[in-house]
Amino acid sequence: MFRNRLRSKRLWDRIVDAEEAARLITDGMTVGMSGFTRAGEAKAVPLALAERAMRDPLKITLMTGASLGHDLDSTLAQAHVIARRLPFQSDPILRNAINSGEVMFIDQHLSETVEFLRNGALAVDIAVVEATAITEDGGIVPTTSVGNSASFAILAPKVIVEINLSQPEGLEGLHDIYIPTRRPSREAIPVMAPDSRIGVPFIPIPAEKIAAIVVTQSSDSDSPVEAPDAETDLIASHLTEFLLREVRRGRLTERLLPLQAGIGTIANAVLHSFTEAPFHDLTMYSEVLQDSTFDLMDAGKLSFASGSSITLSTEKHRRVLAELEHYKRRLILRPQEISNHPEVIRRLGIIAINTALEFDIYGNVNSTHIGGTQMMNGIGGSGDFARNASMSIFVTKSLAKDGTISRVVPMVSHVDHTEHDVDILVTEIGLADLRGLAPRERAEIIIANCVHPIYREALRGYYRRALLRGGHTPHLIEEALAWHDSLRRTGKMLP
Ligand code: COA
Repeated sequence: MFRNRLRSKRLWDRIVDAEEAARLITDGMTVGMSGFTRAGEAKAVPLALAERAMRDPLKITLMTGASLGHDLDSTLAQAHVIARRLPFQSDPILRNAINSGEVMFIDQHLSETVEFLRNGALAVDIAVVEATAITEDGGIVPTTSVGNSASFAILAPKVIVEINLSQPEGLEGLHDIYIPTRRPSREAIPVMAPDSRIGVPFIPIPAEKIAAIVVTQSSDSDSPVEAPDAETDLIASHLTEFLLREVRRGRLTERLLPLQAGIGTIANAVLHSFTEAPFHDLTMYSEVLQDSTFDLMDAGKLSFASGSSITLSTEKHRRVLAELEHYKRRLILRPQEISNHPEVIRRLGIIAINTALEFDIYGNVNSTHIGGTQMMNGIGGSGDFARNASMSIFVTKSLAKDGTISRVVPMVSHVDHTEHDVDILVTEIGLADLRGLAPRERAEIIIANCVHPIYREALRGYYRRALLRGGHTPHLIEEALAWHDSLRRTGKMLP
């Protein structure tokens, strides 16, 4: 019954079609849209905006939670609507526009965007938010993600709401919307465990701010997960063995600590492998809840998961939404500034598992820039977690592009996570536990444990020659750069 979806009678006259709602967005505006890792994005208004821009060009700054589904970033980029984009994307066409310099991309820690909005460094002119329902007082009940939607809606002078009828009404009650108080007298954020509920189940805004309501029907895009392969299986087993060793040494229990797992196939495969491991009563305090979250729940291993979005493959999406009541009491979706909040991550002692594009012999990690210059997706939440986790783990395969590239290099071509934020590195070759080690000790163990044999002697030779030059962190800067330059010139990394 649509009356349950739009419970504020005085808002019924705001229902318009997407084209009319999109007219509220004009050239030069900063638009805050819902959407986080292909879940819960506004779907109709951005399309109407792109169509209009083909006839009547306009440019906006587009802020979201993270990446959008339905190829919306592609469509908007092709219509040349996006002048500036933040804080994350993962779209091939937008990526080209960013790397060609057409779109200015501000690659931000996901917990930080709304802090910039609150302190006035950024401003939002209009919010466009997907909703399951609107309450009697104008409160917005989000759908499969919260992302930055709450602060966009609270801080923007006008809000467009897309009520998506394909999103189950049962999503109501899943969300926990909490907005931190003002700095410098901010109160502690009272999340004491992954299942702490500290806010309200809707975005509280005055009904008068809702300028337009659009009714939509299209479900979230699926997020296909590549099947685990021999290498991801090895990465998962190295990590499981390591965690079991930590349990035997009494540093962890079989419940581990709350887990965070980043986007992508490897992190998903690692979590999935815990279904077979002797861990139990696990919890997650993460940002994206992927297929593996529900695999672990189904296997009876995971008792609670807190995130900012639910991003699933087609089959999983259908099943989880159909059986929402079964999962709901073990799930919370929060604003991304809370799911990724440094204070909470430190308090809970998160074990963070994220993916690297490359790392170097001292443990610096590049998550974003291919060859040091070409943006891939963005840092996302990996930095929020890596810096504040009790155990910051990065996983990757040791080779890329059929072995023409070693993902372990003398010096990374771009640094997202410095050596200070990286505790454990894992490839299919093995695992390096860097905790408590100085740079010279780190280099030895990383080269011995993580590098593919076809590059191991070359890296060992590099390190030996660098040692002759000395230093706390020995390097031959010109040779380190030559590894990357060789790739650019010849399509193959040294040697
Ligand atoms: N040099 C050059 N190319 C490289 C490379 C390297 N060191 N490492 C990977 N590549 C290429 C791959 O060959 C692949 O190319 P293809 O698409 O032509 O096959 C592409 O880059 C993607 O690599 P892949 O390893 O398949 O990526 P992934 O899907 O596992 O994702 C990240 C890895 C790092 C891009 C992804 O995890 C990410 O965006 N991380 C940052 C955000 C984040 O961590 N968020 C966490 C909180 S959710």
